[in-house]
Amino acid sequence: MAVLWWWSSSCLSSRAVAAALLCLLVAHGSDGTRHNSNNGGGSGSSSSSKSHKQGGGGRAHAAPTTPSPSPYPSPAAGNNSSSDDGWLNARATWYGAPNGAGPDDNGGACGFKGVNMPPFSAMTSCGNEPIFKDGKGCGSCYQIRCKAHPACSGVAETVIITDMNYYPVAPYHFDLSGTAFGAMAKDEHNDELRHAGIIDIQFKRVPCQYPGLTVTFHIERGSNPNYLAVLVEYENGDGDVMQVDLMESSPDDGEPTGVWEPMRESWGSIWRMDTRRPLQGPFSLRVTNESGKTLVADQVIPADWQPDNVYSSIVQFE
Ligand SMILES: *[C@@H]1O[C@H](CO)[C@@H](O)[C@H](O)[C@H]1NC(C)=O
Ligand SMILES: *[C@@H]1O[C@H](CO)[C@@H](O)[C@H](O)[C@H]1NC(C)=O
Ligand SMILES: *[C@@H]1O[C@H](CO)[C@@H](O)[C@H](O)[C@H]1NC(C)=O
Repeated sequence: MAVLWWWSSSCLSSRAVAAALLCLLVAHGSDGTRHNSNNGGGSGSSSSSKSHKQGGGGRAHAAPTTPSPSPYPSPAAGNNSSSDDGWLNARATWYGAPNGAGPDDNGGACGFKGVNMPPFSAMTSCGNEPIFKDGKGCGSCYQIRCKAHPACSGVAETVIITDMNYYPVAPYHFDLSGTAFGAMAKDEHNDELRHAGIIDIQFKRVPCQYPGLTVTFHIERGSNPNYLAVLVEYENGDGDVMQVDLMESSPDDGEPTGVWEPMRESWGSIWRMDTRRPLQGPFSLRVTNESGKTLVADQVIPADWQPDNVYSSIVQFE
């Protein structure tokens, strides 16, 4: 069954592919892979193993292989006056519903949820490895524009990386939501552009701006006192989280212990901590961005935290 959608999808999470491989290797009917997610480790597999129905675009049907390190550098954020004012060439395809946000479940390999709603507003994309960067690229922002097709407006639109592109058709390949792909068109020409399916575009990395939003932490389903998985969202600036550290509180007085412990990147923008003894809240979290600046959300997660809850900090990168 996994094989059927395998070939009709160019934008899959690595987890989905791993799950598909397991499906092929393990006898059908075994539910062994699903059980992994109860311990949190595979919390992405159940949602991301859904079929990604491809829209008009793509047809990027290369044989599935393990991604090798890309020889192409990841574009840097910020001012880069070289190469046509920083614009680089890429190819774009699209997937999902024509006016959708990409994946059927409005999520994606980064773990963000409801990407059809603000602040993502369906302006989302899968990136291949120099863009997705093994999850570090989740939440980064790019301007995209197209000029090659008659329906193209040439006007730059901003998209956020929310998913991984497993079958790139070019050194830089954006597999866009139907909405984002159509947004590059002249007024009323969105469908005409989507009909082209695959087009040449230009792109550049830009800082993200989430006006009015602070850095937010979503406790992933399956978290428990010995396993905490946190999705980090809405960082202004480069959007790349390089490190997340956690500080527990003392059970005696509820004050922070003063000891930062590193969390591990789990997948996408999700960071995890596994411990043998129960973790003691409230938790403070320290987020480090790509330029090494840190931001501390002091006791942002209360002692009585619940999985699947969102805890907003009062801090934000500039
Ligand atoms: C600017 O772009 C060039 C190549 O396009 C790259 O080598 C350089 O590191 C970039 N500089 C910055 C500050 O991003
Ligand atoms: C980028 O830097 C160049 C020279 O370093 C400058 O001329 C240009 O105005 C800058 N562009 C932006 C958008 O800041
Ligand atoms: C990291 O955060 C600092 C402080 O908020 C900010 O000035 C800087 O621009 C951020 N770095 C990037 C690359 O966005």
